[in-house]
Amino acid sequence: MYSERLRGIKSSAIRDILKLMSRPGMISFAGGLPAPELFPVSELAACADAVLKKYGSTALQYSVTEGITPLREKIAAMLDPDRARLTAENVIITQGSQQALDLLAKVFIDPGSRVLTENPTYLGALQTFQLFQAKVTAIESDSNGLDPALLKKHLAQDKPRLVYVMPNFQNPTGLSYPLERRKVLAKLAREHDVVLIEDDPYGALRFEGERLPTIFSLAESRNVVYLSSFSKTIAPGLRIAYAAGDPELLKKLVIAKQGTDLQTNTFGQYIVNEYLESGFYQKHIDLVSRSYRERRDGMLVALERYFPASASWVKPAGGMFFWVRLPAGADASALLTQCIEHNVAFVPGVEFYPDGSGRNTMRLNFTNATQAEIEDGMRRIGDVLKANGL
Ligand SMILES: Cc1ncc(COP(=O)(O)O)c(C=O)c1O
Repeated sequence: MYSERLRGIKSSAIRDILKLMSRPGMISFAGGLPAPELFPVSELAACADAVLKKYGSTALQYSVTEGITPLREKIAAMLDPDRARLTAENVIITQGSQQALDLLAKVFIDPGSRVLTENPTYLGALQTFQLFQAKVTAIESDSNGLDPALLKKHLAQDKPRLVYVMPNFQNPTGLSYPLERRKVLAKLAREHDVVLIEDDPYGALRFEGERLPTIFSLAESRNVVYLSSFSKTIAPGLRIAYAAGDPELLKKLVIAKQGTDLQTNTFGQYIVNEYLESGFYQKHIDLVSRSYRERRDGMLVALERYFPASASWVKPAGGMFFWVRLPAGADASALLTQCIEHNVAFVPGVEFYPDGSGRNTMRLNFTNATQAEIEDGMRRIGDVLKANGL
């Protein structure tokens, strides 16, 4: 009854874990959810009001598939402040970055096509690539991102259609690529004429250090498609995100989007456009980043206080996650079952590894819990780890 492409595709483990989270007293470090108390509710209400007054029924009508032009222009200006390279033609609006991944998969993947990813990688991307029957090869990373020698080897050997990377505060590891590694990837994408997807929903949530150029800006070629989203910087329920790239390539995504949903919701695009115009956006990013840095610091203290000495982690300089490595042989999935009995949850790292490795790793989100919940939840997990002799 069901299509070939659905065979063997599992429901997302994270979405399944999230279903348990409504239990009373449950503390969840599982989802990649922003802090709801920071959503700019009254500013968005003011923007919605202003939009209806300014644009009236236009803001409620069908619109073009690419997205509304003023929003595309603002995004081009954000990505390229001196406007040397980019115009609205280089940007399309998508229904979340997840849709951009889906459209890229539709445009570039045939059954059996190769896709190269980091190992571990973002679960939602894996699910999309698998739905289009890609063969995913996950390439080992060092602490600076994808290993260039291995990438080069796989580019030559596998002739992939897509390479998928997250150079800022990667989901799940929290790691970022230094400038040199970004340059190497830009060069390799051009030399091998492969499309590299640079997925960057977390780059604006930086707690310390300098913001680095995107691979997209370094590549100056049609081989890089840059994705980002207002999900983590305004609110995910808006479902407003974008893809930036070569206009010819974007035209193909637009054809795919026509068949998917005609367009991203007009009203939401106008609201985000108004929000950017009002000057709220940068102030809000500063506020959110400050709050998330405090929560990151709170989780770091709790890790040091409650987790056994056998566990290790790297302090992330931004984003939403700690990535914890337990001793070889530890099974984070079995530990999760016990943790859920103690009303606390995380995501077992194995879910993010296309090759099924990483059973001894775990991802902990610090943005959707209060300091008190972080303290309490981390103590509970620490007790479970110690009770298991770790
Ligand atoms: C790396 C990455 N890409 C894309 C997405 C999808 O985000 P959205 O569709 O809300 O823009 C997420 C969400 O967590 C993510 O972590």
